[in-house]
Amino acid sequence: MEPLDDEQLNTVYSPILSPLAWDLGHIANFEELWLVQTIGGREPLNGDLGRFYDAIENPREVRGELPILRDAELRSYMADVRERTLDVLEGVEIDGDTEDPLLRDGFVYEMLLAHELQHNETMLQLLQLVDGYELPPTIEAERSSPRMPGTDASRDGETVTIAAGEYEIGAPPRGFAYDNERPRHPVELAAFEIDRTPVSNSAYISFMEETGAEPPLYWERDGGAWIDTARGRREPIDPAAPAVHVSWQQADAFARWAGKRLPTEFEWEAARPQLDGLGQGWEWTSSDFLAYPGFEAFPYREYSEVFFGDEYKVLRGSSWATHPRVARESFRNWDLPQRNQIFSGIRCARDI
Ligand SMILES: [Fe+2]
Repeated sequence: MEPLDDEQLNTVYSPILSPLAWDLGHIANFEELWLVQTIGGREPLNGDLGRFYDAIENPREVRGELPILRDAELRSYMADVRERTLDVLEGVEIDGDTEDPLLRDGFVYEMLLAHELQHNETMLQLLQLVDGYELPPTIEAERSSPRMPGTDASRDGETVTIAAGEYEIGAPPRGFAYDNERPRHPVELAAFEIDRTPVSNSAYISFMEETGAEPPLYWERDGGAWIDTARGRREPIDPAAPAVHVSWQQADAFARWAGKRLPTEFEWEAARPQLDGLGQGWEWTSSDFLAYPGFEAFPYREYSEVFFGDEYKVLRGSSWATHPRVARESFRNWDLPQRNQIFSGIRCARDI
């Protein structure tokens, strides 16, 4: 956030993304709620300020209008919360065997870290709309790092065969994971093939040329070539890189055009140990975001339970904007099928 001024932090760049000032205040407020108030048993710093940072009560399209903290007040609130958090931490026993499920294995601390890191990715989505914004060098290196083995276009079409059988899906009972990743349970899968690599930009361009499909978000035609206009740049599209910023509908249409289909999220998880090209884009699956059998909401219903149903599609994997600490193999991301502001790509599967 360092290169941004207060005006940029307060600007609503898109109705489907929060102004950055909201994310920053929300990160601090979530930390205050869980660590300072719940674990530390202390009163909040600013009365009921927290109601403006409740993500369910305040959908993204209204966040720019809320009486949230801004500018110097925002920065001092963030610093005050962090100071109180560290103070509470001094007196807390984080013991692997405590009976308190919030403290067991340090759950609540890992949850807070994961929350902040996941918001960093959401803020990076918004930053794609900020002309001239330069990514910090470490993140730019992730974004533009040499392609992982197997993500060059020459390997488009290579597949991995996954045998029919029973596969264990979900997170083990101990260690940090979100409620929606549990309980771990066996799933019976028929044999299938899955592409060794995510769909490349060059494959996506062939699909667009043949079908007239819409380009990914931020792509523009410049003469005969496609360019990427995110952050106000005009960079040629790298044909070998995985295609990102596609909606579920675009992903599904691509897979059909290729004579294939999107994998289910269970197929994706079963095949994950053999997949190349992970980490450069989330991958849409055909699965709706549903509870696993025996699901129990923890630590609050609003993390997952209120989103279960056929409205949201699951994405698996991670992107260049995802911190490795939150890229678990059982991690389930979800979004509305029409969304493409996320760093979302495609990997195809096929029955055999
Ligand atoms: Fe949040």
